[in-house]
Amino acid sequence: MKDALVTIEGLNVSYRGSGRTAHILDGADITIGRGQSVGLVGESGSGKSTVAFAMLGLLADDAEVSADRAVFDGRETTFATQEMAALRGADISMIFQDPMTALNPMFTVGTQLVDIQRRRFPRESRRKLWARAQTMLADVGMQDAAARMRRYPHEFSGGMRQRVMIAMALLVEPKLLIADEPTTALDATIEAQVVEVLHRLRQRTAASMLIVSHSMGLIAELCDSVIVMYAGTVVESGPVRDVLHHPRHPYTRALLACEVDPYAAFHPSQDLATIPGNVPDPARRPEGCIFAGRCPSRHDRCSDKPPRRPADSGQVYSCWLEAA
Ligand SMILES: Nc1ncnc2c1ncn2[C@@H]1O[C@H](COP(=O)(O)OP(=O)(O)OP(=O)(O)O)[C@@H](O)[C@H]1O
Ligand SMILES: [Mg+2]
Repeated sequence: MKDALVTIEGLNVSYRGSGRTAHILDGADITIGRGQSVGLVGESGSGKSTVAFAMLGLLADDAEVSADRAVFDGRETTFATQEMAALRGADISMIFQDPMTALNPMFTVGTQLVDIQRRRFPRESRRKLWARAQTMLADVGMQDAAARMRRYPHEFSGGMRQRVMIAMALLVEPKLLIADEPTTALDATIEAQVVEVLHRLRQRTAASMLIVSHSMGLIAELCDSVIVMYAGTVVESGPVRDVLHHPRHPYTRALLACEVDPYAAFHPSQDLATIPGNVPDPARRPEGCIFAGRCPSRHDRCSDKPPRRPADSGQVYSCWLEAA
C-alpha cells in the first residue's frame, strides 16, 4: 500500500516454554493505511490479541517476536518490545476489552484523563488539560461530563467506563488506535451505544484504527477493510464489503456462516452451520494449508502451503482453489 501507516510482513510470535515451541503467529501480514480502519477477525485463539499486544510491546517476557519487515509511520522497527513500548501511549493507544484493567481505582476519572495527556502536552496547564478532558468526555457521549470528571471508576457502569477508555485513548491524539474486543464485556444495548461512539469517532478522527473482534458484523459496521486470521495465519484480507459479500477463503465462508448476530442480513447463504474440528495446537502446526484439517474443499494439493492469491477486488487469500 502506497500510504500505509503500518506495514508488517511475516510477523512471528512464539513461546518456547518447557515442551515444544508454540508458534502463535506464523508469518502474519498486517497493513493499515493512514486514516483507515481495519478489522481483525478470527475464532478465539487465532492470535488476534497477540497481534495487538505485539504492536503495543505488551507481550509476555518469554514471547519471541520477529518480523521480516515492519514499518510504523515511515520508520523501520525491529518489533523489539522496548521499541514498540516507546510508541505506546504517544503514537499508538489502546482500548481494552475490560476498561477496569486500564483505569486506576484510586484516582478520579478526571485526574486520569489529565495524567494521560502529560506526555503529549508536557507544558500545558492542568486547567487546560482538565477542560480538554471534559470536552472529550462529553464528545464520547458522557452526560454531565463536568460532574463525572470528579468521580471514581467504580462509580461508572461498564458502558460508561468504556466511554472513559475511548476518551482516554483519543486524548493523546494517537496515529493508531487499537481496540481489542471493545464491546464484548457489554450488554447488547450498551454495545450498540459504544459502537455508535466508535462510529462517530471514525468520521472525526484522523487516526488509523485496528479493531479486533470475532464479530464480522461489528467489523462491517466500523471498518474499511478486514484481515481474517486462522491459527496465527492471515488466510484472507481485503475491503470489508467484498470479503463479506464474496468471501474467497473457505475459512472466511465458514466463519460468516457461523456468525449469529443482528447483522445476519450481510451473510451469504452457506451450508456450513458450524466449523467441525478444532484449531490446531500451536505446538503442533500441520505442514501445508493450516485450515486443511477442517476444510470442506480440501484436496491433495493442500498438503503444500497454499499461495497468496490476489483478486481484482483487492482481496488476497491463501488457498489452492481458485475462488469463483
Ligand atoms: N504467554 C503465553 N504463552 C503461551 N501461549 C500463549 C501465551 N499467551 C497467549 N498464548 C496462546 O496464543 C494463542 C492466541 O491467543 P490470543 O489471545 O492472541 O487469541 P485471540 O484470537 O485474541 O482469542 P480471543 O478471541 O479468545 O481473545 C492461544 O492459543 C493462547 O493460548
Ligand atoms: Mg483476544
